[in-house]
Amino acid sequence: MRIGFQLNGSPVSVEAPDDLSLLHLLRDRLGFTGAKEGCGIGECGACSVLLDGQLVNSCLTLAAQADGREVITIEGVRGPDGGPNDLQRAFIDAGAVQCGYCTPGMVLAGEALLAKNRRPTRAQIREAISGNLCRCTGYQQIVDAIQVTAARREEGKANA
Ligand code: FES
Ligand code: FES
Repeated sequence: MRIGFQLNGSPVSVEAPDDLSLLHLLRDRLGFTGAKEGCGIGECGACSVLLDGQLVNSCLTLAAQADGREVITIEGVRGPDGGPNDLQRAFIDAGAVQCGYCTPGMVLAGEALLAKNRRPTRAQIREAISGNLCRCTGYQQIVDAIQVTAARREEGKANA
């Protein structure tokens, strides 16, 4: 079937089998390898992408489900200069990136949360990333990075 959607702000139209996962469409057919394949069964969040702004496990999402919709992968998250955005920089500064396997999904989970809750509590941040497993950081630094970004974005708005 032919699938058409917006990928990181650009239109994509691709022929794909009905049973192809969105993860494999992105990685293997379109070359967007930021979403990682960890478990492949919806348990680790390494494959997270945003589908119409909602965090989804792309390993459990059919490519066909993206038809007519908007997909954001980690490649679509960047600062105004094309480099890391404020949340990505906060991850780096906080030591929230170690092996980095979970990081694309964690950043997207953070962005999905901050889009709907500008002042999340630490408990709400933990809840928001509860579907994203990290074997390296112990989560503290990841929560720190999301919290500091929330505070800075609020401060930026207050000073704008
Ligand atoms: S690879 Fe999709 S949730 Fe683990
Ligand atoms: S930084 Fe290694 S799994 Fe999270």
